[in-house]
Amino acid sequence: MKTALSALGQRTAPPPISWLMKTALARPRLISLAAGFTDNATLPVGISRQVLNGILCSPKTGQPALQYGTTAGEEKLRQLTATHLQKLDGGHDRAHTPERVIITGGSQQFLYMTLEALCDEGDVVLVEDPTYFVFLSILQSRNLKARGVKLERDGLDLAHLETVLERLNKSGKLRRVKALYLVTYFQNPTGVTTSLAKKHAALKLLKKYEQAAGHPIYLLEDAAYRELRFDHGADVATALTLPSAKERVIYAGTYSKPFATGVRVGFGILPEPLFTAVLRIKGNHDFGTANLLQHLLARALASGLYNGQVAKARNNYARKAAVMKRAMTEHFTANVDIWESGGGLYFWARLPKGISAGVNSKIFQAALKGDVLYVPGELCYADDSSRAKPDNEMRISFGSASEENIREGIRRLGAVLRRFV
Ligand SMILES: Cc1ncc(COP(=O)(O)O)c(C=O)c1O
Repeated sequence: MKTALSALGQRTAPPPISWLMKTALARPRLISLAAGFTDNATLPVGISRQVLNGILCSPKTGQPALQYGTTAGEEKLRQLTATHLQKLDGGHDRAHTPERVIITGGSQQFLYMTLEALCDEGDVVLVEDPTYFVFLSILQSRNLKARGVKLERDGLDLAHLETVLERLNKSGKLRRVKALYLVTYFQNPTGVTTSLAKKHAALKLLKKYEQAAGHPIYLLEDAAYRELRFDHGADVATALTLPSAKERVIYAGTYSKPFATGVRVGFGILPEPLFTAVLRIKGNHDFGTANLLQHLLARALASGLYNGQVAKARNNYARKAAVMKRAMTEHFTANVDIWESGGGLYFWARLPKGISAGVNSKIFQAALKGDVLYVPGELCYADDSSRAKPDNEMRISFGSASEENIREGIRRLGAVLRRFV
């Protein structure tokens, strides 16, 4: 009998990370430095209890929170989100207005719906090389093409972006290009932060090629880790502060990483006509994000408890990143190039060219045998036939492991690297 599954149902590949997670569960001694989870130790249990008690202590505040809300999101939270972003962006309010904010089930839902509203099968999305692998999975599932743009230590390689756009233009494929997706702060997986100047230059380049494309090409900025800065460098403003932001910048943000991954509330800012299209699509997905969780966040933001929580999380990750760095210095061989980040949850480690750390490599298998897990960097590269996928890199997270496990995990990984590198 033929399958009843849709083309999308048949095509959608298993998430690359799911077997990593299963592997972790099957080995109780295993230390996972793979997951992008936040730290249980700093999750806001007390704050959430206090805020939820406040909401549920009377029918007047409890009932609206336990009722369906609106598709775009709770008004107060939309307002607070716009104000919060304006503050982070130094008072800018160019494109950060509440009526352009949509509250979503994590930023993941926002990214998915934005691609639904923007792309038909065969369309092209430009991505950083490497990039967030779940974004690549959405592209795979929806039969969209990814084109990788090289990444430098300070963000996108602009010359390469121009080369890629020019090549697509020459081959007649520019009209299929819809967006450039950038994870702009403490990027997953490399930890790289993109400067405002680079965001500006990228936006200008996209604009330059719009004529030939015949339609707008959007800059999709994913700022998931923005608030997890723990170095003392200055914050970088978002692309929302740039001149054509109101027409061309799509912004994906989240309260997951800075507050609580389990609350899973994200948000997006969209130019028209995308805002209306995404809102209608969300109407079909779920006609509104869980209302109680939105009320929880609105109260946490308004009371200042949110900011206190973010400060606590930042201090914790600063400490854990320092522990990981010290352990890497002690245990890794000198020829491993470590990309250190000033925030987020990850280190990126590059082995010398020709030494594979990929899924089928001796290093990955030995690490698994030695009960330590990392994310093979190759999973973060798009299927782009114009270049070979590098396989000599590793994403190593200090997010969820305890300090003791970070030290021991890096010691185990170092022992593997000394054998093979
Ligand atoms: C770069 C990036 N964007 C978006 C997300 C999705 O986060 P959430 O849906 O919890 O907001 C993640 C999660 O790991 C991420 O790493």
